[in-house]
Amino acid sequence: MIDKMRIAGKLAANTLEYIHNHVVPGVNLKTLDQLCEKYILQNNGNPALKGYRGYPFATCISVGHVVCHGVPTDQILKDGDMVSIDITVEVDGWYGDACRTFAVGNLSIKHKQLIEYSEKAMWEGIKRIKPGVHSSEIGRTIQAYTKPLNLRVIEEYCGHGIGNEIHMYPNILNYYNPDVGVILQPGMFITVEPILTIGSGKTILLDDGWTVVSSDGQPCAQFEHTVAVTEFGYEVLTLID
Ligand code: MF3
Ligand code: CO
Ligand code: CO
Repeated sequence: MIDKMRIAGKLAANTLEYIHNHVVPGVNLKTLDQLCEKYILQNNGNPALKGYRGYPFATCISVGHVVCHGVPTDQILKDGDMVSIDITVEVDGWYGDACRTFAVGNLSIKHKQLIEYSEKAMWEGIKRIKPGVHSSEIGRTIQAYTKPLNLRVIEEYCGHGIGNEIHMYPNILNYYNPDVGVILQPGMFITVEPILTIGSGKTILLDDGWTVVSSDGQPCAQFEHTVAVTEFGYEVLTLID
């Protein structure tokens, strides 16, 4: 089982690594989505988001103040944008889920730091994973790390159990609520995927029914890994080759 999760996880990670080189000023989001879909299919996987709850694309691509679930449109990336690409793949019935935020050309220091700290916040959460620890410690750690940096967690969106479905029990919140979650046990698979912003953290769902934006127009960054709880700690499944 973990072998199959390793294969799915690696494909999600390798797809993000592959698309990274295509994230340049002038490219449109639809092209990036289509390239990812082709890459996944060529490597014996399925783009699991396509058709998931009616979602029509292989990836979610969220530019600037799009918080998450951005739809790959004809929008063209320009210098100074930041863009999150979230990919879920399925291989042989098992799922890998990963997201990274990329800088397009040159970013302001503030926005570069948002990306850097968002990745670090995810790792702070992941490092807390160990059998016997309650999963709410992940959110507690992420919140404790980001607060002094004056960044806010988007509270409405969270990580999740994963395995032979994309979204499984339990939710992995990115802030502290000891009433949500479970005691981590070897053999569990979860995602850690905090979304951070320099703004208020309030969100609005757009009329397309998918795209979530920050209500104050402030940019967001997100990193996501799929992680296995192991006998002594954790194994990150969505690492590149
Ligand atoms: N990959 C997303 C996650 O991390 C799920 C997106 S669901 C979609 O959980 F329907 F919006 F694509
Ligand atoms: Co996820
Ligand atoms: Co995802």
